[in-house]
Amino acid sequence: MAEDKVEIDTRELRNALGRFATGVCIISTVTESGEPVGMTANSFSSVSLDPPLVLWSLQNNSEVFDVFARPRYFAINVLAREHHEHSGRYARKGDHVLHPEHFVPGKSGAPVVPEALVTFECELYATHEGGDHLIIVGKVINMHTRDDGDPLLFYSGNYHSLA
Ligand SMILES: Cc1cc2nc3c(=O)[nH]c(=O)nc-3n(C[C@H](O)[C@H](O)[C@H](O)COP(=O)(O)O)c2cc1C
Repeated sequence: MAEDKVEIDTRELRNALGRFATGVCIISTVTESGEPVGMTANSFSSVSLDPPLVLWSLQNNSEVFDVFARPRYFAINVLAREHHEHSGRYARKGDHVLHPEHFVPGKSGAPVVPEALVTFECELYATHEGGDHLIIVGKVINMHTRDDGDPLLFYSGNYHSLA
């Protein structure tokens, strides 16, 4: 690919990308020894309806990269407004073990966050290198949807809720 002529400052780019409002998710899976772990992420996106595919991106320099990069099963839990503290808790560096009250086992075996607005249980479908992130594509094999509740939103580096 041709070199981009414009110098993009990483901090400016981060700030610019932050102008795209997103929801907030906890990506959950289990370690090789079966320990349930979760990581806060807002890179979730839908990909395909048939087959049912979704993705998220994992930073290559994560201390827990190996755990989250190639799990057989994982879940994407879309957080509700009241899960604000969960988001901070599972964004702490190197500290991703799920509190026993913050998950129940899903059908796939991946941990599922109770009362998430929606949870997509996924089987790993593909991974793609994406610069300093790994793009992780999951095939949705089970869903849990809550009928009520408002989303936790992330915009310009801060949490928000619907007005
Ligand atoms: C709102 C929010 C969204 C985030 N989204 C992502 C993401 O999509 N991918 C990612 O790898 N880390 C994301 N992070 C960072 C991780 O949650 C976490 O801070 C980081 O993994 C900690 O470092 P460690 O992985 O080395 O433990 C996000 C953090 C916050 C607060």
